[in-house]
Amino acid sequence: MDKLVIEGGVSLNGRIAVSGSKNAALPLLFASILLEEPATFTNVPNLRDIHTALKLLRILGCPAEYESGVVHMRPCGPKPEAPYELVKTMRASVLCLGPLLARIGQARVALPGGCAIGARPVDQHLKGMEKMGARFNLEDGYILGRCDKLAGAHISFDMPTVGGTENLLMAAVLADGETVLENAAREPEITDLAEFLIACGARIEGHGSSIIRVQGVSRLGGCTYAVMPDRIEAGTFLVAAGITNGNLLVQHCPWQELEAVIVKLQAMGMHIEKTPEGVLARRSGDTLRGVDVQTRPYPGFPTDMQAQLMALMCLAEGSSVVEEGIFENRFMHVPELTRMGADIKPAGRSAMVRGVRGLNGAPVMASDLRASASLVLAGLAAKGTTHVQRIYHLDRGYEAIENKLNAVGARIRREKE
Ligand code: UD1
Repeated sequence: MDKLVIEGGVSLNGRIAVSGSKNAALPLLFASILLEEPATFTNVPNLRDIHTALKLLRILGCPAEYESGVVHMRPCGPKPEAPYELVKTMRASVLCLGPLLARIGQARVALPGGCAIGARPVDQHLKGMEKMGARFNLEDGYILGRCDKLAGAHISFDMPTVGGTENLLMAAVLADGETVLENAAREPEITDLAEFLIACGARIEGHGSSIIRVQGVSRLGGCTYAVMPDRIEAGTFLVAAGITNGNLLVQHCPWQELEAVIVKLQAMGMHIEKTPEGVLARRSGDTLRGVDVQTRPYPGFPTDMQAQLMALMCLAEGSSVVEEGIFENRFMHVPELTRMGADIKPAGRSAMVRGVRGLNGAPVMASDLRASASLVLAGLAAKGTTHVQRIYHLDRGYEAIENKLNAVGARIRREKE
């Protein structure tokens, strides 16, 4: 297992480029199960989760090749089984359920297990597909789904779920008649998926709003499609500029999609400016100020940026209150940040952060993807050496993170634990 060893206390300065979005690329790859012609994806990040998805797609009968950020998919003769060995390493594997039912009327997909950031059930995915005519059984830890041709339906989600909306959108594009998804999630990655499906011949309206209407079509072709930039990686770099008191030009930084994050960073005392070459990020003055933040579905503040913002709050003057509104157990970075000298008091789904003058390097343990990013940020700002252990989480979602950060001045090495 690898760890990152970070010599902290250096300001980051220069240009840093954002890769393609992991959370947009995963549903796009699974959507190729629906296609009858080849598709090419560009700007695909070189990440562990992407390679897991490609492996799963090959098992499902969809030949996929990855080369330098480009994925070529050939039309597949889908096979219905997604084995536990892959699903357990990546929950997003459940996104093959909708496309498999739509294309071949059957699916056997391992039930994703409990997850470090909460129970994360898939009941909304299943309930929606049942309304479209699918029948499900649970057998030996697998979801067994069957249907004749899926039929359009009116589906109202109990909560805006990103994966649920994506799965139902993919199920609906080949269904008979109209499907209406109400209380749909509005995340930009869903818009990216809808735009791709439309480019392949699907009929979708309202994506990006909470009501999506889909008119089923009989077949989908293929196309070439560029994955959107990763708004969470971009946000992590903006925080890196603030926490190290540096000056970064973040290239390919989505501006509108990061608005909720940018507003909070500005309120904390960062200067963030859109330029033709990218987004400039630095502190406006010497110090940062605490702010309160609640994570919410898009366009609210993203839960996937909560841990990183908390690292910045640790070094801001005054207090900050963080309320986690999406997942019930997403404060695993708190004890680790505390080991580095942070003053954080969690209470249920909230945490009170009191700013401290400095953090100290320490051995810390990464527990999930975004918690890992928060520890790397803290390590960049800390005095001394931080060892971030179990970084396989980080490798699931950040492309070449130590290379990118070292290129703007960080001192990070990858070592065997
Ligand atoms: C996606 C993102 C993840 C992000 C999350 C919230 C991907 C691959 N992952 O995860 O990085 O943190 O959105 O922005 O895109 N829920 C149910 N039943 C369901 C589905 C969801 O109760 O059937 C609940 C979840 O437990 C959670 C909330 O709804 O509390 C939101 O989850 P959801 O939006 O579905 O997250 P994911 O799609 O798993």
